[in-house]
Amino acid sequence: MTYILDITRQQSTDSQPYVQSIPFETDDPAATVAFAMRQINASPDCKDINGETVTPISWECGCLQRKCGACAMVISGRPMLACDAVLSRVARGGRVSIAPLKKFPLVKDLTVDRSAMMEALKSAEVWLKAHASAEERNEGFVFDASRCLQCGCCLEVCPNFYAGGEFSGTAAALPMARLMAALPERDRELEKSYLRHFYNGCGKSLACRNICPAGIDVDSLLVNSNAAAVWKRRFGGRGR
Ligand code: SF4
Ligand code: SF4
Ligand code: FES
Repeated sequence: MTYILDITRQQSTDSQPYVQSIPFETDDPAATVAFAMRQINASPDCKDINGETVTPISWECGCLQRKCGACAMVISGRPMLACDAVLSRVARGGRVSIAPLKKFPLVKDLTVDRSAMMEALKSAEVWLKAHASAEERNEGFVFDASRCLQCGCCLEVCPNFYAGGEFSGTAAALPMARLMAALPERDRELEKSYLRHFYNGCGKSLACRNICPAGIDVDSLLVNSNAAAVWKRRFGGRGR
């Protein structure tokens, strides 16, 4: 099967973006977008559909096992991990559009600067100041929240998030919620931070539902953390 990868390329923020269409042939039904781009970058003679040489595509990857979140990008119109995007599933009529996340400053091609996510965690002061541990009543919640990859896919679809703004989105809300659940005593400063950096700015539209490549049940987690921070309820476990 030959797929056409329509990849948005851009040398830098000062240059114009363009789409380069690159054929990629594979018989592997499990081949992913990440696999295809690695193959293309490893082939110095690779040509696009116009016969032009394909220069190396800039993109980030780490684990190639859906564990690090580095390869998040927009594939066939949906934010997802390139190493999780099986070509046969994401192709539309044999073509796959591949573009960078739009909510973060572009570096080059598919590489973006996601440091705003780390800055959001820093400004919300999401770090341990006391012993914390999961108990039986909340271990499902703590475990689920800990699976966040900080990939940014949920921020891409969030109408209220922009990099550098005070609203930090789900990617920071989950670590805050995880801390709130695991601390033995209520931390009022952390709850205030949750309100300021997440709750007050969240439109509750749930556009971030069903987008998480880690399969985190984001809306259930947010219901619990909102209840804890706003109505001072204790975390009672998964789905409560
Ligand atoms: S909640 Fe899911 S989509 Fe959002 S940053 Fe974490 S892993 Fe990515
Ligand atoms: S519920 Fe809406 S505003 Fe709130 S984090 Fe999700 S997408 Fe963003
Ligand atoms: S390379 Fe780590 S999640 Fe895709």
